[in-house]
Amino acid sequence: MSPNPTIPGYTSGTAAVPRASISLEEFELLKKTVLFDEADVKALRQSLPVVKDQVEAILDVWYGFVGSNPHLVSTFVRVADGQPDMEYLGAVRKRFGQWILDTAGGRYDQAWLDYQFEIGRRHHRVGKNLTDKVAAAPHIPFRYLPALLYPVTATLRPFLEKQGHTQAEVSAMHQAWIKSVLLQVILWSYPYVKEGDF
Ligand code: HEM
Repeated sequence: MSPNPTIPGYTSGTAAVPRASISLEEFELLKKTVLFDEADVKALRQSLPVVKDQVEAILDVWYGFVGSNPHLVSTFVRVADGQPDMEYLGAVRKRFGQWILDTAGGRYDQAWLDYQFEIGRRHHRVGKNLTDKVAAAPHIPFRYLPALLYPVTATLRPFLEKQGHTQAEVSAMHQAWIKSVLLQVILWSYPYVKEGDF
């Protein structure tokens, strides 16, 4: 998706984002490995108008989950006073909303692939806090990244059901979302994996 200048820190598609650490050909093999194919792209795109209408409600659920779990919300906590940084949460929420649209858009090209590695760095100590210039917790432990895949995708299904699609269509959209988030979390893991082992 083209850069959205109205979202601070959303740099997808700009020269500010370094090249991805794997090629599009290597990404193809990863897609093949999780059984992600053109039918999934179609299902994701079918989900786009559905999720677009409900971005804020979806974010309320996801933020509610993170916010009610002290071990998760601690990554948004200011070092100085131990309180959640509401501006930081708000800034990330805007980019999270755009992420919903990018994921459903299903245009997983070079710019998108490059930005996945940027999102990975933003979760890891090499890049966390830099985008919003905050002094918050310096790092997100790796184990929580794959763990969050489950609540994020499980809580999405009711939203996919809201616009009159058949159960088969809803299942196809949901499966495509699960595979896409899995692919993304794998890409985001890059800075957490020992050099040469990814
Ligand atoms: C399936 C798992 C996850 C998804 C889909 C997800 C999604 C996202 C997205 C879309 C962003 C904004 C990216 C951008 O800057 O454009 C983000 C940033 C962030 N996420 Fe996650 N995330 C996941 C796991 C986690 C976990 C487990 C935590 C904390 C325990 C977390 C905490 C954060 C924080 C603190 C930021 C801001 C990082 C920064 O300083 O730039 N995320 N996440």
